[in-house]
Amino acid sequence: MNVLLINGSPHKFGCTYTALEEVAGRLNAHGIETTIFHIGNKPINGCIACYKCYESGQCIFGDDPVNECIELAKKADGIIVGSPVYYSGPNGYLCALLDRMFFMKEHNYNYKPAAAIVSCRRGGASASFDRLNKYFTISNMPIVSSQYWNAVHGNSPEEVKQDLEGMQIMRTLGNNMAWLLKCIDASKDLVPYPEKEERIGTNFIR
Ligand SMILES: Cc1cc2nc3c(=O)[nH]c(=O)nc-3n(C[C@H](O)[C@H](O)[C@H](O)COP(=O)(O)O)c2cc1C
Repeated sequence: MNVLLINGSPHKFGCTYTALEEVAGRLNAHGIETTIFHIGNKPINGCIACYKCYESGQCIFGDDPVNECIELAKKADGIIVGSPVYYSGPNGYLCALLDRMFFMKEHNYNYKPAAAIVSCRRGGASASFDRLNKYFTISNMPIVSSQYWNAVHGNSPEEVKQDLEGMQIMRTLGNNMAWLLKCIDASKDLVPYPEKEERIGTNFIR
């Protein structure tokens, strides 16, 4: 089993990474492989609503990390998205990546356990956390929780490590995700995935 952890900060080894690494450490301790995918610090196009991904399963923009991230997410058993807090929201480049990653009509993230984590200096953690969870709750993904809302506080990795409660929240999240992944794996021959109705889309038009 493996979990994809998306580092949505421009800093490869910053605060968000420090939190993700703590989660990954617990997953690894339970025998689960992890990949930390850094979105980088180059521009990431927003979705242009061309709907081409509906046909091809790929985004038409091939010059940024989105398609690579989609391929990793399809192969992963669980997905964790981490972001720094920018003005009480996630990093805009990360939102651009996630918009395009989740807009795929036939994406394969259904029933993969997911979680968001955020890193802030002082405020806006809950709002950013809520925003990231929206991607999962529209995608049939079970959300893994922890003992508190998943946030660490600090302006540098050293400060984040001093946030003892935040780091414990990350470890609990890793343990909880490992537990759920093992439950799903153990029951795969016993409990079928839920039946899905054909999707109804009404657009609020009679
Ligand atoms: C443009 C920008 C906006 C920010 N807005 C907030 C904010 O609203 N609340 C907050 O607590 N920290 C804010 N910060 C600080 C970062 O969220 C914080 O330092 C974070 O831990 C950095 O994570 P990183 O090292 O992974 O990039 C902001 C930083 C930047 C660059």
